[in-house]
Order: sequence, then structure tokens, then C-alpha cells
Amino acid sequence: MDFNFTPDQLALKKMAQEVVAKEITPYALEMDHNGKMRPGLLEKLDEAGLVGLVVPEEFDGPGLDAVTIALIYEELGKGCAGVATSVAANALASYPVILMGTDAQKKHYFDIINSGKLAAFALTEPGAGSDAGAVATTAVKDGDDHYILNGTKCFITNGGIADVFVIFANARKSAGIRGLTAFIVDRGTPGFSVGKEEEKMGIRASNTCELILDNVRIPTTNRLGREGEGFKIAMKTLDAARPLVGAVSVGIAQAAFDAAVKYSKEREQFGKPIASFQLVQAMLADMAIAVETARLLVYKACWLKDQNLPFAKEAAMAKCYAADVAMKVTTDAVQVLGGYGYIKEYPTEKYMRDAKIMQIYEGTNQIQRLVIANQILY
Ligand code: CAA
Ligand code: FAD
Repeated sequence: MDFNFTPDQLALKKMAQEVVAKEITPYALEMDHNGKMRPGLLEKLDEAGLVGLVVPEEFDGPGLDAVTIALIYEELGKGCAGVATSVAANALASYPVILMGTDAQKKHYFDIINSGKLAAFALTEPGAGSDAGAVATTAVKDGDDHYILNGTKCFITNGGIADVFVIFANARKSAGIRGLTAFIVDRGTPGFSVGKEEEKMGIRASNTCELILDNVRIPTTNRLGREGEGFKIAMKTLDAARPLVGAVSVGIAQAAFDAAVKYSKEREQFGKPIASFQLVQAMLADMAIAVETARLLVYKACWLKDQNLPFAKEAAMAKCYAADVAMKVTTDAVQVLGGYGYIKEYPTEKYMRDAKIMQIYEGTNQIQRLVIANQILY
């Protein structure tokens, strides 16, 4: 792998840095406090081309490779992991369409995203979290041309603000996991509504909602792939998206590390900067090693994907390791800032709250370890 990024990659990274510095970082604490994105921010991110990063070129998107997207997501993660989550969920929801969509489905879906609107990926249910195959939402054929969807989805990122959704339902209950099927559902379809909005510990700028499907009638042409292909579509989608959770985690960890380094040089105790104490230096050195190794794992998983080589194991490793690093590094950053690290006026406690979800969503880190073990053993 070439560590010299191309001029295009560097230019996009710089552009993302500038947008984040101007539009996100100064408002991150305010968005965290308010529990939502700043009005107008999504439009600004869209103008900068940061909303539809995974839209293919043939559908008027940038058609970026995974390494470049990871470079950009790290920058978004540095600014605000809540905003990064919202943008990343848009990408997550686009992968099933990229993988299985017909040209007509792609056009419909990507026209919506290209107009600056958001998408959501709805797999999780109250009874189907880690056990994604246990989805209880049903899709029952209504004649040859339609399905009727019934069920409840929970914890759906962008659920309350997206305009288009990929929803997983079971079309053949008796077939279990092999009945799972993916559908495109548009906001405003009769019977489709948004339920409870969640109050969260972190990533508070992102929107997380319950979705209710009450006799939602959709045309068969909204089905992605064949009946029963839904579980594999979900798994392949998560393979593609997990390194990007890794990239956001690296961004959070880097931001926390930078804050800790800066503070350690400014804060004096015992008549000298705390950075001069070797116990503090050891923490900073360990943080630097962890951030850099996590970043390399993210690049490796993305690079494998870009080369069309198998990457599921490395995707799970990148997500799992980078999320654990984000949790450890943000916790240590709070420690370096001492009491001030625990106070909301400083950014480190937000980084720590934001880092926690990285170990939970897109498959908990226990599930990532199962995926890795399966790849190693079978
Ligand atoms: N690619 C293709 N096929 C795959 C696959 C993959 N990566 N992983 C599994 N499969 C196939 C298997 O080969 C198997 O196929 P056959 O039946 O033909 O042999 C089938 O799928 C079933 O596989 P398993 O027996 O391994 O399935 P399982 O029930 O044991 O579950 C699991 C495996 C890895 C635990 C899976 O359920 C899982 O990933 N759970 C976590 C769910 C998750 O990540 N949710 C995230 C929601 S989205 C989100 O969180 C977004 C956000 O925050 C913004
Ligand atoms: P559970 O599956 O009940 O797990 C509870 C605990 O048991 C965990 O520690 C888990 O690791 C452990 N566990 C479970 N099974 C095993 C096992 N076999 N071996 C070892 N340990 C195990 N979902 C979507 O579909 N779309 C979204 O956009 C989305 N966004 C989210 C945003 C937020 C803020 C949150 C909180 C969640 C989101 N999710 C989304 C759901 C998320 O993917 C799930 O919460 C996650 O997969 C875990 O499922 P669960 O919460 O039901 O936990």
C-alpha cells in the first residue's frame, strides 16, 4: 500500500478539514447540548459534496474509493461524531442499493441523496439487535405487484429526518434468516411513521428514532434483490460500512489526543507543565501508538475493499480495534485534563461519550470478535 496519498485525496481531505473547522467544530458542543444538528448544516455539508460520498459516478455522485472516504470521515469524526454518524448512516443505507439495486432503483434513490436529503438503514428491532436474523417485521405479498410491510424498527439513525429508507423484513417466516428481504421505502408512504426519538448519551447531533410500519403497501419494484437475499445484503453492507465506523473512531481519538497534548503543555503543576512528567508522557505516547495503529487498520481494510480483495475480517478488525482505541484514548484524554476533563466546558468528556457508541453500533465489538473468529476458524 502506498502511503503517499494522491493529490485528489489530499485535496479532498483538506477541503473536509476546512469545512469541519468552519461549520462543525465551533458548534459541536452546542449541537451536543441541543441534541440535534445545527439548522442549515446539512445543506452546507451537501454544498461541499460531503453528504453523498458513496454515490457512484454513473448516478452523478463522486464515486469515491473507500480509502478516500475514510480520510474524509476521520475529519468529520474529529469535528463531531454525531454529525459524522448522520453522514455515515447515509452511506450505510446506500450500500444495499449499490450492491443490489436495478438502474431504476438506483436512479430513484440517488436522485434523493443527490438533492441533499438523507437515507436510513433499518435492520434493528426490539427483538433483533445482535441477532439480526431474528427480524420480525413481515413482508406479505399482496397480489403479484405489491408487498404489505408490518413491524417496528428501533434505534434507526436518521430515522426522523431521512427521506428514503432501506428496510429489512421477513417475506417467508418459515424460512427464518433465509426469508429476510430488503425494500426501499419512501418517507410519506401511507402507514409508515416515525415513533419515539431517543435521548442519547453521545453522538447527540445525530437523530435516532423508532420506525413504525403499519400495513405499508409498497410495489414489488421496491424490493432489492430477490426474496430471501436480505440477510446477505445486510451482512455485505455492514462489511463495507464497518471500516468507516473505524475511520470516525480514529477521528474522535485523534481529536481527544490533540486536546490532551495541547493541555499538557499549558497546564502547570509543581511549577512545571504536566507534559514534563513521565507518567503523563507515557499516557500520551500510548495514545499516539493506539491512534496510529487503528488508522493503519482502517486504511488496510479500505484498501482491500478498493482492490476487490476479501475484506470482511479486516473490516470487523478495523471497526472493533478503532472503536476500542477511541474509548481508551478518550478516557485517557479526560485523565490528562484531570478535573477539567470531566467538565463540559472542555471537549474531552464529549469525545468520551461519543466514543462509547462506536463499540456498540454496526455490530457490537463482541459481534465483531465473533465475525473475526468465524473468518479465522472456518
Ligand atoms: N457476507 C455474505 N454472507 C454472509 C456474511 C457476509 N459478511 N456473513 C454471514 N453471511 C451468510 C452466511 O454465509 C450464512 O449463509 P448460508 O446460510 O448460505 O450458509 C448466512 O449469512 C447466515 O450466517 P450466520 O450463520 O453467520 O448468521 P448468524 O445468525 O450467526 O449471525 C452475525 C451472524 C455476524 C452475528 C450477524 O447477525 C450480525 O452481524 N449481527 C450484528 C448486527 C449488526 O451489525 N447490526 C447493525 C445495525 S446497523 C447500525 O448499527 C447502523 C448505525 O449504527 C449507524
Ligand atoms: P443486544 O444484541 O441485546 O446485545 C446486548 C449485549 O449482549 C451486548 O454487549 C452484545 O455484545 C452482547 N451479545 C449479544 N449477542 C452476543 C453473542 N452472540 N455473543 C457475545 N455477546 C453477545 N440499527 C440499525 O439497523 N440502523 C441504524 O441506523 C442504527 N443506528 C443506531 C444508533 C444508535 C445510537 C444505537 C444505540 C443503535 C443503533 N442501531 C442501528 C442498532 C445497533 O446496531 C444495535 O444496538 C446493536 O447491533 C446491538 O443490538 P442491541 O442493542 O439489541 O444489543
